[in-house]
Parts: sequence; structure tokens; C-alpha cells
Amino acid sequence: MQKPEHCALVIFGASGDLTKRKLVPGLYNLHKRKLLPGGFAVLGIGRTPMEDASFRNRMVEALEINGDAQSAGAGDRELFAKGLYYQSVDTKNAEHYRKIREKLAAIDAERDTRGNHLFYMATPPSLFEPIVRNLGSQNLQQEETGYRRLIVEKPFGYDLGTARRLNASLHDVFEERQIYRIDHYLGKETVQNMLVLRFGNGIYEPLWNRNYVDRVEITAAEQIGVEGRGGYYEGAGALRDMFQNHLMNVVAMIAMEPPSTFNADSVRNETIKVFDSIRSMQPEEVSRYVIRGQYTDATVRGQRLPGYRAEEGVADDSKTETYVAVKFYIDNWRWAGVPFFVRTGKRLPTRITEAVIHFKQPPHRLFGRRDEACYDCNQMILRIQPDEGILMKFNLKLPGSGFEVKTVNMDFHYSELSDVYSPEAYERLLLDSMIGDATLYARSDAVEACWRFVDPILEAWKSIPETKLFGYPSETWGPLEARDLLDHPELDWRYPCRNLADGGEFCEL
Ligand code: BG6
Repeated sequence: MQKPEHCALVIFGASGDLTKRKLVPGLYNLHKRKLLPGGFAVLGIGRTPMEDASFRNRMVEALEINGDAQSAGAGDRELFAKGLYYQSVDTKNAEHYRKIREKLAAIDAERDTRGNHLFYMATPPSLFEPIVRNLGSQNLQQEETGYRRLIVEKPFGYDLGTARRLNASLHDVFEERQIYRIDHYLGKETVQNMLVLRFGNGIYEPLWNRNYVDRVEITAAEQIGVEGRGGYYEGAGALRDMFQNHLMNVVAMIAMEPPSTFNADSVRNETIKVFDSIRSMQPEEVSRYVIRGQYTDATVRGQRLPGYRAEEGVADDSKTETYVAVKFYIDNWRWAGVPFFVRTGKRLPTRITEAVIHFKQPPHRLFGRRDEACYDCNQMILRIQPDEGILMKFNLKLPGSGFEVKTVNMDFHYSELSDVYSPEAYERLLLDSMIGDATLYARSDAVEACWRFVDPILEAWKSIPETKLFGYPSETWGPLEARDLLDHPELDWRYPCRNLADGGEFCEL
């Protein structure tokens, strides 16, 4: 595995949740796997005044709490923490950025980080633009002594207009090649594997098109509610929070053409072609193609779960969607006429993310089946989480006289590769940014293209007040109306079980 050049990672928002829960544990795992460069440091930036030593203690505590980042031995976390520094800065005050410049110079000398600096924006999005402007005011983006990169967290804009403005502000200071827009879904092993499954095998690709595929279904179900993030979620909703970024990227992985080579430019050129080919909706079509829902209270296994409107930071009459199901078409040679169904929601019965390729039925039914209909006989299920793996469903003859047919499973589970370490998404993406590989990061044109598709939906919800928002009781699969999108009496969404290969009415969730 490639090891990055010596570098320093500057984290804005160092006292925030993301730093504690994902970034520092991800870096510690890289340290344990000996993938951090020989000269490495983290400079945490936050408002609260704090000494380096207190920041180190806090991060060591965070590592202790975080079960995934288990210590590699006595004193190892403390050894890692020696490379952590802290600087208190009012991020809106350009003058304060001089302190960052000076501290980085000291760190370069002390930790041999060779003037290579990455700036990670783990702050609320309202601070992205001021931070970048102020970095520019101190020339911190100038690649005089080493490289400079900017890593931007989501949400990237609030709609097309704000995303464009944000892109323009970033481009005022940084060049596109220096900007890394994070989408942690692209860091998931199972999402990356979609490309290998498709383009690393000769057997699936010939089937992967409108001639053989009936429809594609993607589900990202979460069991949790908004978990204290009501204030943020009110302004986001499921469409912005999950669909516009994570799920659109999963669509790209499934739908893209083979890139000419496996590098950032080629892969991202194919991604943008997919987004550009998605048929846009007129606001008056939105209620035909999009179903939105909001979870209501329910008693589940004796426990009372509050409805979304009772969550902290949420308005009593909130119309924010916690569930969305979208049907759309990709108008190109490969996918013309194949509907894509994508749904995501909070407070659904379980946490599962998967994509299902539904293949067409045999052209002529020669054999009977016990349950007659054969709409879902041939499916390939790409499970992103949990019980990560791939399941193929196909028909087989039941032993005995006659030719009775039954649908059976052929499955692969990543857990079978027990000796292979599977890095967490942030771990992988942080390493890529240090190496300078932007393949799994979103490019500005792709982000804007996603917003171009999503904008008319948001617009319709705003301008056509009678667009329905359906309530669904917590721990159900969302509004029943989502089934109408499938537009066929025999078709329904897949109701997945926790274990990939399980099915039927009773299963573990
Ligand atoms: C985040 C969203 O980007 O993704 C959250 O803001 C959501 O609301 C999370 O819960 C889901 O990520 P994962 O990796 O748990 O599927």
C-alpha cells in the first residue's frame, strides 16, 4: 500500500464531533497500520483556548471511547498523540490566520512535515467560505514549500445556487485540483467494490444494461431518528442529507460506463456523464415521481418513540421529510427506459443500505413456479451494509417429479475474507487525500449536476404547498404510497433483512 509524503493535516472544527468520532480514530488506525508518513502532525483549530497537551488528552480519551480504534499496545495512543497540536483561532478573523501560519512553520520544523499542508473543514458549512477566504488572505494556499490541499465536508451547498457560489468561493483561492469534497459513501469498501464487480469481471457487464435489467432499486434505511441533530436536519431533510450526495454517488457507481483508466479524471468524467443524463423533472411532475414522508410517534417493543415533530430543534408544524423515495430515468444508450427507484429514511425498521439489480423475466415461461409470478426471480443484491456482500437470486428445479421451480440464493459475504482488514470510510479517504488521489472525492461539476436534478424537487415542495407529506409510524418501511411509484400491481420494494441471504416474512432486522 502506498505511503503518503510527510505532511501536516489542519482540522478546522477540532473540538467538534466529527474530529472525535471519525477523523482522529481514522488517523490512529492509519498510524497502527503504519500508513502515516514518517513526518506527520495534526493541527486542530477551534475557538476554545486550549494547550496542545489538553487537546492531546482529549483525543486520547476519544480514542479510548471509540471501540473501533483500539490501542496497539501500552503507550501507543500517547505516542500517536505526540503529533497532535492545537491552536485557538477565531475563524472569521483574518488576522488570526497568521497564528496558523506560524504554528505550521514550527510544526514543519519539529515534525519534519516538509511544508505539505492539508486543510480539513470539519466545521458548520456557514464557516466554509470565511475560512477559505482567510486562508487565502495569509497565502496559506500557495504551494511555495510543498503541496496545499483543501478537504471539504458535506453539506456542499443547500441548493444549486449556493453550491455554485461555494464552488466559486473555493476557486477564488484554491485550484480545483487542490480541492477534495468528501462523500463518505465513496470511502465504503462495498461501494468501491461495485466498480470491481462490474469492470473486473467479464460475466456481468454484458447483462448490465437495458436489454437485461428491468429496474434498479437502491435503499438506504436507518433505524435511528435525528439523534439530537434536529436543528441541522430541519434545514436539510432526507433529500439533501442522503439522496443528493451519498445515494447519487451510489447511482453513479452502478450506472457509469467503464472508465478508460482507473484514475481520478477518467472515473469522475464517467460519473458526470451519468448525472448529466438523468432526466430532470418539471415541478408539476414531482408528486408523480417523488414520495416524501415524515416519521410519527409509535410504541415499538414497549418503548415510546417520539415523532419527528417532537424532536429537539424541530418545528411543531415541520414539513421536513425524513423519508424520500424517488423514481427517475437515465436517458442514455445503456439505461434508456430502465427506471431507477431510490429511497432513504430515518426510523425505518432496520439499518440497511443496498442496491438491487432486478433482471428481466425469461421471455417465455416454460416452467411453473409454486408462487407463479416471476417478477423478482433474478436479482443481484449488492449489500453496502451491514452483512456486506453480494447475493444472486435465480430459479432452480425442485427435486422430484415434474419441473417445479423455486428461487434460490447464491451469496458471498465479506466476513468470509476474515483475514483481510476492511478500513473505515474516513480512514481510506484521509489516506487518499494525503496521497493526492481524488478518485473517490466529488468534483465541482458532479456536485452541481446532482443539485441540478434535486433543485426542481425542492422547488416543487416549496412552491406547490399541496404536495403531500405522508406520515409513517416509526419503525415501519415508510409511507405505503411509495409503492405507487413502481406503478405495477405485482411489484413492490424489497423488504430486506439484516442478514443478506434471509428473506420472507420473518427475519432479523
Ligand atoms: C450522514 C448523514 O452524511 O450519513 C446522516 O448526515 C446519516 O444523517 C449518515 O445518518 C449515514 O451514514 P452511514 O455511513 O451510517 O450510512
